[in-house]
Amino acid sequence: MAETKLYLPDPELAAGAHCSSLQQYKAMHERSLKHPEQFWGEIAKEFYWETHTTEDKFFSYNFDINEGDIFIKWMDGASTNLSFNLLDKNVKNGKGDQIAFYWEGNDPDDYSRLTYRKLLEETCRFANVLKSKGVQKGDRVAVYMPMILELPIVLLACTRIGAVHSVVFAGYSADSLAERILDSKAKLLVTADGVWRGEKLLLLKNICDDALARVKSHGHEVECCVVVAHLRRLISPHGKANSGTGRATNGTSNGKSNGADSAPASVAPHVDMDDDRDVWWHDEMEEAEPSCYPVWMSAEDPLFILYTSGSTGKPKGVLHTTAGYLIYAATTFKYVFDYHPGDVYWCTADIGWITGHTYVVYGPLANGATSVLFEGTPFYPTNDRYWSVIDRYKVNQFYTAPTAIRSLMKFGDELVKKYDLSTLKVLGSVGEPINPEAWLWFYNVVGHGKCSISDTFWQTETGGHVITPLPGATPMKPGSATFPFFGVQAELLDEEGHLIEGEGEGFLVFRRPWPGMMRTLYGNHERFQSTYFERFRGFYCTGDGARRDKDGYLWVTGRIDDMLNVSGHLMSTAEVESVLTEHPSVAEAAVVSKPHPVKGQCLYCFVTPNQGKNFDKKLQDELKVKVREKIGPFAQPDVIQHAPGLPKTRSGKIMRRVLRKIAVGDRNVGDVSTLADEGVVELLFSLRPQNI
Ligand code: WTA
Repeated sequence: MAETKLYLPDPELAAGAHCSSLQQYKAMHERSLKHPEQFWGEIAKEFYWETHTTEDKFFSYNFDINEGDIFIKWMDGASTNLSFNLLDKNVKNGKGDQIAFYWEGNDPDDYSRLTYRKLLEETCRFANVLKSKGVQKGDRVAVYMPMILELPIVLLACTRIGAVHSVVFAGYSADSLAERILDSKAKLLVTADGVWRGEKLLLLKNICDDALARVKSHGHEVECCVVVAHLRRLISPHGKANSGTGRATNGTSNGKSNGADSAPASVAPHVDMDDDRDVWWHDEMEEAEPSCYPVWMSAEDPLFILYTSGSTGKPKGVLHTTAGYLIYAATTFKYVFDYHPGDVYWCTADIGWITGHTYVVYGPLANGATSVLFEGTPFYPTNDRYWSVIDRYKVNQFYTAPTAIRSLMKFGDELVKKYDLSTLKVLGSVGEPINPEAWLWFYNVVGHGKCSISDTFWQTETGGHVITPLPGATPMKPGSATFPFFGVQAELLDEEGHLIEGEGEGFLVFRRPWPGMMRTLYGNHERFQSTYFERFRGFYCTGDGARRDKDGYLWVTGRIDDMLNVSGHLMSTAEVESVLTEHPSVAEAAVVSKPHPVKGQCLYCFVTPNQGKNFDKKLQDELKVKVREKIGPFAQPDVIQHAPGLPKTRSGKIMRRVLRKIAVGDRNVGDVSTLADEGVVELLFSLRPQNI
C-alpha cells in the first residue's frame, strides 16, 4: 500500500526556492490557468524575440474534434531562435566562460568540458557545415550519436539554421533507425564511429551503413553522413586526445583524455567511408567559420521530431515547435529542479529520449545552467559510478530513473556512503511510477533525508513536466507525482468520459494545452487527432491511468493502452509481436508485461509455433536475439512461453488481461465466458515455465 506520510521540503531549501510554499504554488497555478497570456508573457520577456506577438494572439487552440481540426498555437506572430537564446544571450550576459557541460566519459579517465562561449562557436561552425551540405530551414537532420559533446552541438546547430533535428537513440537497431529516417525523409545523418558503453563496444557507423542501405532500397537517399571520430580520439596511441579530432571535446582544453591506458581496446576499428556520402566531422569543422547569423523562426515553426512508440507498432514522429517549447522547457527546468546560478545539475538520461532533449539540452541551457553530460552506465567500471560522479562534480540536482535507482539499491547503502553527496539539494525521477520503497531509499540514502524528490510525470508528447512536485513548495508522498505544473489542467475521466471529482481513479487527461505540448505527429495529423483526441471529446488523452487521493494528490498508475514500459522505455505490444511473428517457426504471438523488480515491467511473450515446428530452447533464444536486433537491446523479452493457442474472444480479439494473469501465475483470471475456447487458459497455466 502506498505510504501516507507527508515529507516536507527542507526549510532551508524552501526559504531560498523559486517557489517556496504550497500556497504560492497554488496562486501561481491558478493565475497560469486564468491569465495564461500574462503568466507566460512575463516569462517570455526573459528571452529574445526578433518580432513580438500580441496579447490577443498569445494563444489559441481547439481540443474538440467535433469543432474541427485540433490545433495548438502559442505566441503567434513572434519570432526567435533557440540557439540564440541559449548561447548568444548567455555569452552576452557574462556567462561566456562559465561551463555549459562537464563531459564525463564511459571511462572515468576520459573527461572534458565546454564553456558557453566555446559551445556557441562550435554550434556556429557546425551550422556552417550543415549549410555547406545544402541543409536549409525546414530540412530534417537525423542524429544517431552517443552522449558526447558533439551531440548538443548538432542539435543547437540545427536550431541555428532552422533545420529540424530527429534524434534516434543510439541503442536502436539499424531497422528502427531506417524506419525513422524514412518517415522523416532526413537529408543528412550525423553519427560517430562508435562508443563504449560499459564494457560493450557499439559500432554506430556500421549500424548507420546498414540503415542507410535500407533507406536507399526504399527509394529515399540521405545525401550526407557526418561521422565523429570518437573512438579514435579515445584510444589514441599518444595517450591523449588527438587535437585534430577532438576540438569540441577538448572544449576549454583542460580536460584530459588518456584512453590509451584505460580504454578497454587497443586499436580503433576500421570505419568504411563512402566517398560520395560520408565525411569526417573534424575535417569539416576545421574549415568552418565560428560565427553564423541565426535564422529567425516563427513561433510555430518546427523545432524537432522525436519518435515514440505507437500502439499500432509504427513509431509516431512527435513534433515540437519553437516558442512554446522554449518557454516551457525553461520554466519547468527552473522550478522543478529549483535551479540557481552556480548550481551543478546532472540528468542521467540519454539525449536520444525526450528527457535528454528537454532536460539535458534545452531546459538547462535556457537557464544558463552548468550540467554534467555522462556517456557511461551506472555500473562501469564499478557499481558506485553515479555516486562518484556526483561527488566529483559537486552535483546539486540529480535527475534519474526509477529503474536505475532500483538496480543500485541492490548493492547496498555502503557504496553510496563512501562518497560525499552533501551538495545534493533536489533529486528527480522520471520514466515510470516510482515505487515507495525505491523512493524512500533515494530520499534517505542518496538524499540523506534532506533533499526534495521531484517525481516528474510527463511524456514525449508533453514536451516537459506536466505533473510534478516543486522542491521548495510541495509536501511529498512517496510514489505520487503530486500536482499539475503551471498551465496544466489535469482531470480524471471514467470509461464513459464523465469527470471524476475528488477521490477516484480513471483516465488521466488534460483539458487545455500548455506551451510545450506537441503540435502534431510529423506528416500524419489524422493519427495525431485519433490517438490523442478521439476517445474523450475536448481532452488530450495521455494513455495513462491515475488516482486522486483525498488530499488531491495524483498517483499515476501506468499505461492503460497496449504500451509496455520496460526500464522507462516505452514500446508497444504490436511492435514486439510483429518481430516475433516474422520468425519462420512462429504462427502467432502475444506480448504482455509482467512486473519486474528492477525494470518495473518486463516482456512476457506467448508464442504459438507453426505446425510441425518445435518450441524449444533454440527457438526461444532465436526470438530473443531477433527482438534485440530488430528493436534494440532494451526490448529483449524476459520470458518466451509456449502457447499452442491464445485466449481469444469469438471475434478473434486476444484477451490480454488473461495473459497478464498467466504471466504472474495468478489464477484469478476473472470472467472468461466470452472466450471462444476457455480450455486454453488452463493449458497455458500448465505450460507456464516454473523457473521465472
Ligand atoms: C510513463 C518520458 C509515472 C508514463 C518522459 C508516460 C511515468 C510514459 C512517469 C511516457 C512518472 C513517465 N510516473 N509514469 N513520473 N514518467 N511515465 O514518452 O506511462 O518516454 O505515459 O516520456 O512514461 O514515456 P516517454
